[in-house]
Amino acid sequence: MTTYTDLNPSTRILLGPGPSMADPRVLRAMSAPLIGHLDPQFIKIMDEVQEMLRTVFQTENELTIPVSGTGSAAMEAALCNFIEEGDKVLVAVNGYFGERLIDMAQRYGAKVDRIDRPWGEVFDSAEIETALKKEKYKLLALVHAETSTGARQPEIQAITKAAHENGALVVLDTVTSLGGLPLEIDAWDVDIAYSGTQKALSCPPGLGPLTIGPRGREALKNRKSQVANWYLDLTLVEKYWGDNRTYHHTAPISMNYALREALRLVVEEGLENRFARHQKHAELLWQGLEDLGLPLLVEKDYRLPTLSTPQLPSGLDDASVRKRLLSEFNIEVAGGFGPLAGKVWRIGLMGYSSRKENVTLLLATLKEIL
Ligand SMILES: Cc1ncc(COP(=O)(O)O)c(C=O)c1O
Repeated sequence: MTTYTDLNPSTRILLGPGPSMADPRVLRAMSAPLIGHLDPQFIKIMDEVQEMLRTVFQTENELTIPVSGTGSAAMEAALCNFIEEGDKVLVAVNGYFGERLIDMAQRYGAKVDRIDRPWGEVFDSAEIETALKKEKYKLLALVHAETSTGARQPEIQAITKAAHENGALVVLDTVTSLGGLPLEIDAWDVDIAYSGTQKALSCPPGLGPLTIGPRGREALKNRKSQVANWYLDLTLVEKYWGDNRTYHHTAPISMNYALREALRLVVEEGLENRFARHQKHAELLWQGLEDLGLPLLVEKDYRLPTLSTPQLPSGLDDASVRKRLLSEFNIEVAGGFGPLAGKVWRIGLMGYSSRKENVTLLLATLKEIL
């Protein structure tokens, strides 16, 4: 008979594009006893999770929930609830996750147009505005923090203004920005935003924070057809997270404990302090990488503090360096993919991973290997 050993994964220093290292307090919270998903104590936990998610998203949106599933589930919810067969959708693509938005939107029957920028670059709000004028779009979807390139899309407020003037809702991917860099859902007038727990919130992967503003809720109310995905149908899900508390699916209890603790950590630190910490450690990393002869792909003003993409010198054996980092030093960083395969690394400094000692260790290790 086969015997299996005790589970014993190494303690890795997770400096890739996610998951980031979970704060030990978050892991402890996950081991609390299970309670039922309609237990009054769990209902209170749900209320607190929603309240703190609103704080972190900087929104008053009532419909702010953690979707059961990873960031892609929240991404799917952000699209399937607002798309009906034949709706026109515009997607701004400057990396891999823009492509995924297109793939998902098409599966729900949208007619998708795209506007493109090379990987590593960002859009000018004026070019998006011009594209929005070409058709009557129901939805504009774009990525705030492109994890495949390390680029931060600026001018979100100008983009949402242009979208609204042209009658389109805005869906914003904030998977690699929430809790790590400035993101203001209400001040920027974003209609629908989604994220993941495993990046700057420093929680394991498993929930997808999602927030829906007034225009989004109105659009949901005015749908002519049923939402094509039962599990992610917000007209059903909101009855569990809203006042009714009607059973829809069994909430992942331990993941909600984890998210509650992760959000409590963000609130304790304060958003401004947290953003400043991410920025400070990213700048330390950028300087060190440049000193090692690894210049950054993205122009400084548009770099993500959460995800950096140093360019690799030609001839460097990308995979073997990363393999040594992992096997000899327990450090995980990721390679580039798509057009950036073999050309960049993707180094994440998110949440609990964004610490000075991690930057110092990574730079020292890279110096030794290179
Ligand atoms: C920008 C972006 N969007 C969406 C996703 C999908 O999230 P998940 O992998 O948690 O499903 C990711 C994951 O890395 C991401 O970086």
